[in-house]
Amino acid sequence: SFTPNAFVEDIVAELKEKIGNDKVVLGLSGGVDSTVAAVLLNKAIGENLYCIFVNNGLLRKNEFDAVLHQYKDMGLNVKGVDASARFLDALAGLEDPEAKRKAIGRVFIEVFDDEAHLLTDVKWLGQGTIYPDVIESISVKGPSATIKSHHNVGGLPDFMKLQVVEPLRMLFKDEVRRVGKTLGIDDELLGRHPFPGPGLAIRILGDITPEKVSILQEVDAIFINGLKEHGLYDKVWQAGAILLPVNSVGVMGDERTYEKVVALRAVESTDGMTADWVHLPYEFLMKTSNEIINKVKGVNRVVYDISSKPPATIEWE
Ligand code: XMP
Repeated sequence: SFTPNAFVEDIVAELKEKIGNDKVVLGLSGGVDSTVAAVLLNKAIGENLYCIFVNNGLLRKNEFDAVLHQYKDMGLNVKGVDASARFLDALAGLEDPEAKRKAIGRVFIEVFDDEAHLLTDVKWLGQGTIYPDVIESISVKGPSATIKSHHNVGGLPDFMKLQVVEPLRMLFKDEVRRVGKTLGIDDELLGRHPFPGPGLAIRILGDITPEKVSILQEVDAIFINGLKEHGLYDKVWQAGAILLPVNSVGVMGDERTYEKVVALRAVESTDGMTADWVHLPYEFLMKTSNEIINKVKGVNRVVYDISSKPPATIEWE
């Protein structure tokens, strides 16, 4: 059986031996995998690990600043790079989900490459790849790859001639969490729901504008904070809000409104391959819907997604 302490001891020794005095660059995403990989590398090589955390402008509300602070508190050598404008420019006018993913993937590589070039003598690229990612990228020629290209499970762009170091490539997700716990990483960070690399871009159906991003961030924050306040967050595998490209009629006081519809989605799953919609309490849904419509300007209707995967997917794009 898997013992996190022994794993940490072995992998840290192995990383020290393998990397020596070389420098490593690693992209942090705010997720569990890249964080645990970074802490392990930091334990092995200290300040020779250079972490880069990119704000693509499509993260949850306040997430970039909050997570950047957490990383610094953890002693990681991390640089936060706000590239929001660059991503939003690249996305302007794009409506097709795969076109959005490709644009985001491309800009991410550009930003990361620019940053990596500011460092001298880097020899390695650290990655938080876990075992299921390894399997998925081996079978990437299969039908699922043509359904959605998961941009963060590609290879290395070949202009970054770096060797790859992946401390977690033999581990499953629950093992990564246990390693994280052994390393003293915050429970809140370890228990965070999965969040897609393209972020809110694939939860804003159709084209993306800064206004839509900010509406969705507000809606999502109300939903996620509500789940936490009601003790529901840890019972759900993944949750989020989707901004639909339709307006619907409503009334506000004596006025007719014609505003946006948002969908809420919460699923149970073990690996994201299949998923069931969660039977959230009606009282909670009622409260959340009222709060969203009262507080978020531009939204006058909330619906709840009751589709399971398959045949629906977790994300709407
Ligand atoms: P679907 O929508 O395919 O999602 O049922 C399954 C899981 O994968 C996540 N997902 C992505 N993650 N880049 C990512 O990093 C992507 O392009 C992407 N698309 C979906 C989704 O959030 C869910 O956890």
